[in-house]
Amino acid sequence: MKLRLSCLYTLTKEVSEKLVYPILKDASEVLERGAPPGEGAKIVGKSLSKDKLTVVIESGTYVRPHDAAFRLKNFLSQKLGKEHHVGVKEIVGKLYEIIFDVPATPSEEVKLPYAKSISFKGKTCTLILEDVSEEFLQKNTVDRMISLIKEKVEFQQYGTREEHHKIIYEGSTKPMHFTEDPSQELINRKWVKRTPHRNQFIFGPQITELAEAVKRAYVDVIYKPLGFVEMMFPKIVDWSIWKKSGHARALYHGGFNPYLFITPKTADPKAWEEVCDKIKITGEIPSEDIMDLLEPPRGGLAFAQCPPFWTYLEGETVASESLPIKVFDWSGPTYRYESGGAHGFERVDELHRIETLWVGSPDQVQEINLELREKFRVLMEEVLELNIRQALVTPWFMEQKGVLDESVEGGAGTVDYEAILPYNGSWLEVQNCSNNGDSYPKAFNAKAQKGELASGCAGGSFERYLSAFLAQKGFDPENWPKKFRKYITVIPEDVKFL
Ligand code: SER
Ligand code: ZN
Repeated sequence: MKLRLSCLYTLTKEVSEKLVYPILKDASEVLERGAPPGEGAKIVGKSLSKDKLTVVIESGTYVRPHDAAFRLKNFLSQKLGKEHHVGVKEIVGKLYEIIFDVPATPSEEVKLPYAKSISFKGKTCTLILEDVSEEFLQKNTVDRMISLIKEKVEFQQYGTREEHHKIIYEGSTKPMHFTEDPSQELINRKWVKRTPHRNQFIFGPQITELAEAVKRAYVDVIYKPLGFVEMMFPKIVDWSIWKKSGHARALYHGGFNPYLFITPKTADPKAWEEVCDKIKITGEIPSEDIMDLLEPPRGGLAFAQCPPFWTYLEGETVASESLPIKVFDWSGPTYRYESGGAHGFERVDELHRIETLWVGSPDQVQEINLELREKFRVLMEEVLELNIRQALVTPWFMEQKGVLDESVEGGAGTVDYEAILPYNGSWLEVQNCSNNGDSYPKAFNAKAQKGELASGCAGGSFERYLSAFLAQKGFDPENWPKKFRKYITVIPEDVKFL
């Protein structure tokens, strides 16, 4: 890695070369601090015109020039301030040249905002920035740009999820009684009905009872024996939460976008009068006029379910006796603006699922992770009698942040549970289970009284459980496993529509 920053210091007064240049010479020690001998930042060029001092700083891996620029600012202020009453008014990075290696030779152009240019020679990238502000330099933005370029190059190589999908378990064969598309049958029977909105269904009484039965089985098989208790997680998520969890990065990452929420600019009835009058007169929605009365998005609707939980532990130190924390949430749907076509009941924009979440020491988290993994298997194979397999995949939170690396610190990892859909032979992800390492406690500054804090989470969709179940077992309750039937109170009669 090679970095070269041409930095313009605007001083509060005109100074002479005789005064400033010796100070730059003396600064070398400050610029080397913390780096192995000879490997810190170096001043390789300088010029002065009245109150404008330009300094060219070079460095390698140690002491980034943007750090060095601030060290130099402090040093200059110190030396010039006391005796000569000269301060540093502003720093601007006039030209920043960053040369570094990327994981592969890029197959196409890489674009990035704030970059003047990005070019490659094989696996060597040259990133050029021009006229960057003091704030930009200070916030370590440059390091984030470097990581993002590396990520984009890597993404060009792997693009799809398939690369990170390793089957680790294949379940035993269970009887199957159906070969049709269950979504179609659900619609035919009017157990569900599409709404005017894309990929959204209303659940009729019959499918609702089946969803309830899955919940009862979940509680009985998983939560009761493992001691999980219920919470209610918020579903409207402020930007600040996704900024911390990293999900703000995933506003678009291929599979879906989050739904965003917008709020009114004002509660003044006068401001809303005209819009309301228009609706009363025309019966139509004046969308453009409404947009004028709204703020830009302030966040979105929960799509990963667990990030808003972390407000609960944010900034807290959890007593040892309260660990591990084991909770679950099914207090409401989560939302995804799915890309691509509608996929019936198994891929919906409004998704009902159970989120399982546990927090403790890294050992506790891993132990619970393994217990849960076994219980999920029991629920699927022994209660629902599904044909399933398990796969090790890129941890969900890394994927949703747009990060593809499978290796994360703290033993983090995601296992997907997939069930086969006989009507088309594809595997459907029904449930996942992850050890998330220390990423959440770190992001939300949650600590344990003693030692490290880690967490895990698991998401299971009712639409997916039921799609898989009905796809394999069909709609005749006679063919449903007894162990599951005991959780069904009674299937309500079909409503007859004429
Ligand atoms: N939060 C995890 C996910 O979004 C589990 O629900 O997949
Ligand atoms: Zn989660």
